[in-house]
Amino acid sequence: MQKVEVCLSPELIHLFDLKGKIVVVTDILRATSCMTTGLASGVAQIKPVATLEECRVLKGQGYFTAAERNGAKVEGFDIGNSPFSYMEEKFRGKNIATTTTNGTLAITKSTHADEIIIGSFLNLSTVAKYLINTGKDVVIHCAGWKGNYSLEDTLFAGALFEKLHNDFECGDDATNSALSIYSAAKNNLLETILGSSHAKRLKKHNIRKDIELCCTIDKYDVLPYLKDGVLIEK
Ligand code: MLT
Repeated sequence: MQKVEVCLSPELIHLFDLKGKIVVVTDILRATSCMTTGLASGVAQIKPVATLEECRVLKGQGYFTAAERNGAKVEGFDIGNSPFSYMEEKFRGKNIATTTTNGTLAITKSTHADEIIIGSFLNLSTVAKYLINTGKDVVIHCAGWKGNYSLEDTLFAGALFEKLHNDFECGDDATNSALSIYSAAKNNLLETILGSSHAKRLKKHNIRKDIELCCTIDKYDVLPYLKDGVLIEK
């Protein structure tokens, strides 16, 4: 039987053997929610990069640019990291390069895997269905916050394992704990996530509606995956 493991922070990913496995990168607030929303809204491809400089350079190569640091949009870039920005008409059929505090870093640190897919509450069931059909071992990589643990990403890991537990075995304590935390919070998901550290940071930027959208389950049937360094729809 295949197994699921959970990496609670990019600082721990070196402890995982990713070869032959599928990595599901998750950054609920808000990077992977943006990536899912973008592809579901008709964006052609999304290029995740770790640094502002890399993103700036891509402006000259036909990309719109998105950059966020500490929850805020970075000056000089087209957009920040709000899923509502990714819905804009002007991005349909276009390419967006993005760099964020944690989410894009987690993607760039997962490249030893066989495959990298993007997970959020918005496409939870689509991700689960794909993993069950693929039948490979899975590592859920939580982007966290600057190397630290994040509640919302762990809740997603628990929600995903809840959908997989009949077909996959629990591969470690992090997976077990994530399921317990999710089981306790699932009937109160938005309220629970509004109490998270990053939600409090975002509230300072007055972006509650982003949090509400990012906590919506199965709004989109889209599966972003990394191919040749860009995220496209599977
Ligand atoms: C991140 O990558 O850290 C987040 O997505 C930050 C944010 O969007 O607020």
